[in-house]
Amino acid sequence: MRQHRVRTVRRLARAAVAASAAAAALTFGFSAPSQAADPSLREVAESTGRFIGTAVNDGLLSNGTYSDIVSTEFDSVTAENAMKWEAVEPQRGQFNWAGGDRLVQFAQANDQLVYGHTLVWHSQMPGWLQNGSFSNSELRTIVTDHVTTQVSRYKDKVQRWDVVNEAFNEDGSLRQSKFYQQLGASYIADSFRAARAADPDAKLFINDYNTETANAKSDGLYRLVRDLKAQGVPIDGVGFQNHLIVGQVNGQAIRQNLQRFADLGLEVAVTELDIRMRMPSDSSKLQQQARDYRAVADACLAVSRCSGITVWGVSDRDSWVPDVFDGEGAACPWDENYRPKPAYDALRDAFVAAGGDPGDPDDPDNPGDPDPPTGDCSAAFTVSNRWDTGSVVSVTIRTGQALNGWRAQFDLPAGVNLANGWNGAFSQSGRTVTVSNAAYNGTVSAGGTISFGFQTSGGAAQDGTRVSLGGQECAAG
Ligand code: G3I
Repeated sequence: MRQHRVRTVRRLARAAVAASAAAAALTFGFSAPSQAADPSLREVAESTGRFIGTAVNDGLLSNGTYSDIVSTEFDSVTAENAMKWEAVEPQRGQFNWAGGDRLVQFAQANDQLVYGHTLVWHSQMPGWLQNGSFSNSELRTIVTDHVTTQVSRYKDKVQRWDVVNEAFNEDGSLRQSKFYQQLGASYIADSFRAARAADPDAKLFINDYNTETANAKSDGLYRLVRDLKAQGVPIDGVGFQNHLIVGQVNGQAIRQNLQRFADLGLEVAVTELDIRMRMPSDSSKLQQQARDYRAVADACLAVSRCSGITVWGVSDRDSWVPDVFDGEGAACPWDENYRPKPAYDALRDAFVAAGGDPGDPDDPDNPGDPDPPTGDCSAAFTVSNRWDTGSVVSVTIRTGQALNGWRAQFDLPAGVNLANGWNGAFSQSGRTVTVSNAAYNGTVSAGGTISFGFQTSGGAAQDGTRVSLGGQECAAG
């Protein structure tokens, strides 16, 4: 009954999105947006038990189109800037909660989670802190007081906090921030302890960028969180920002990296997803972007401890990307005119593929999305012969997308090696085998198949091993 009411309310809200976007179209002189899918991204995500969030610029909540999308399509919100130290305590001891409070009220009115971002970060510090000189003990008190004050303010209202943000250098060492320089690594544990004491129910995260796959930086982060856990420091999760580039997304590597952190007993989350491209955008870049969004979403949804995905901005109109990366943009799931892009469908398709409820065409309150998912793949991984120290495998992948060049990946059991392969170019790194097209089989039509085979040594491959194509995990087929 409640679900019926919620759906009806959301349908009305979605009609309002269309109406206000049409009005915006008249005002700004662009064409009215196409309808987002029904049930919404939020509803499909909720039915998988994961959250789908967005960064919110609280100043834009007065824009009806923007706020309608935030409320109907997302069930979690992150303050893009309003909860940062610079915004919250511009003068020492003088707090400005206006933006944070506005967002929390919006979330409560719309039955949304709040992801708090961020408590201790070297960037966007207020001038008094950035430029002030403090003794070590004074600075330690400043940090823990700040954490205590902000987490207490939003006790029971913010469910997750980025307690420490971007603490690492690219080589995996700790960043020489003011906090690290004066306090050493202990500022991290102290911040987590202060946050836990202020709200024992909030989940406490460390968050960073360029840590999405295994590399020197994520290895450093891994060592730190493993050690914090071993020392009993109250850390619950690791956030992976995922500010990515179209065509450079390796879903399999992202999944494996999420999994190794999850295996430490931590929650993991995609916290700031956007995938930028060189401008101007065109339909082939937008299609590739959709595949890349899908690959990241699939990676999270394949890891049971990955609690949700937050995109860093609703629309290309509001994104931080063009301000920072010259000539790049179009990184978000909605375009400049608040029309859903292929990336929006891809996110939604990922939740459906992970068991989300796509709706029922016969139910007027929950009719589902009439468009069939595009760009999907299914793969049959068949061990046709096996013996003690080896096996022969054939792989057939069906692709929903026309391809001009392809790259497939899968894992072999530990100790099993690739001996030789056919109908592709093969390489192995650790347990992961990568197969790229041969010169003669790179072009595949939509609905067509890719076939290759190989032999293993050191043991047998496993029948039914999952395969990814272009970073997107394929359904078993
Ligand atoms: O608030 C001032 C305003 O008073 C002034 O008039 C205006 C003039 O430029 O600037 C305003 O500050 C801007 C601030 O956002 C708030 O809007 C800054 O210039 C601008 O640089 C700042 O950018 C934010 C950036 O973090 C700062 O580092 C972006 O909006 C925000 O999307 C971005 O988010 C970060 C995450 O917090 C951490 N991970 C990376 C991510 C992207 O950089």
